[in-house]
Amino acid sequence: MRREQTLIDTPSFAVRLIAWQKTAGRHDLPWQNGRDPYRIWLSEIMLQQTQVATVIPYYRRFLARFPDVEALAAASVDVVMEHWAGLGYYARARNLHRCAEEVVARHGGHFPGNAAALAELPGVGPSTAAAIAVFAFGERAAILDGNVKRVLCRHFAIDGFPGAVAVHRQLWRLAASLLPEVDIEAYTQGLMDLGSGLCARSRPACEDCPVAADCQARQQGRQMTLPTARPRAALPERTATFVLLCAGGRILLERRPPTGLWGGLLTPPEGPVERVLARFGLKARRCQPLPPLRHTFTHFRLTLEPVLCEVERTPRVAEAGHEWLDLTQAAAAGVPTPIGKLLRLAAGMAG
Ligand code: ADE
Repeated sequence: MRREQTLIDTPSFAVRLIAWQKTAGRHDLPWQNGRDPYRIWLSEIMLQQTQVATVIPYYRRFLARFPDVEALAAASVDVVMEHWAGLGYYARARNLHRCAEEVVARHGGHFPGNAAALAELPGVGPSTAAAIAVFAFGERAAILDGNVKRVLCRHFAIDGFPGAVAVHRQLWRLAASLLPEVDIEAYTQGLMDLGSGLCARSRPACEDCPVAADCQARQQGRQMTLPTARPRAALPERTATFVLLCAGGRILLERRPPTGLWGGLLTPPEGPVERVLARFGLKARRCQPLPPLRHTFTHFRLTLEPVLCEVERTPRVAEAGHEWLDLTQAAAAGVPTPIGKLLRLAAGMAG
């Protein structure tokens, strides 16, 4: 009851974020406190995947050299690149120049006045378009950059990789549903400030967070595992034949070369049956494939294809690099885990 009461009394996500932004957020960034779409656009492009502290000196030099969109459009792309050098992600600079040309040529030097039209410009994705529309025109538009995704995935305990189409759509719907009726600028800046500050990827400062009270990740202790990491690419697949040479209740194991798969460990010989038989000068009385076994290593997946071969020759006890071991004890002889499974299987079949 107390708990429900507390939640009912808690102001909305947006209201708390706005109040926090106004008192604890950033207010003196060089692109703040003005509504010039050119300046806001320039800052938002520079801030894509780049931290504020890195951007500030570039932003100032850039503005000094290209004070408005006409100056930027009139410059050669080489001079633009010179002023970008060091900021990285250089496609941004080429698109920036193309965008300036387009704003001058197609829009009479005026940036389009809403997020949907801004998103049509080169280098301006939906989140950047929304940020420009919020800060330049006060439009009630949702942003969703990497930092905001992290905030939302944590606060609402959203499972799944945010880059996956379904999760991405869900996050856009959620971002739109949270927008306040008023103070969209402070709200948007608050999301950015929270995402790049308190709700950082590592060691989030939950104790200072304005929306910690109902943060699902925090309640579930999942701050460090949300957002869900990108799924690992499928591992490469390899197959290997292992020949279980058995005679008189013994099996031949061979010490592997010191490097490579299972370096230095004992395993049954690996390779095509004919070749293995020839290598040991053995004749098979009977060969029988056993069910394949899968094993996952860090960098690949191995399918072991075992073949059980009864051989004719009575084995000698030991030769350099290989030994005939009692089939019932071989699994305990310091062999790799999946080989141990094979040996137990073979022992069961022989017994
Ligand atoms: N990251 C992206 N846009 C930003 C902005 N306007 N202020 C601070 N960080 C940002």
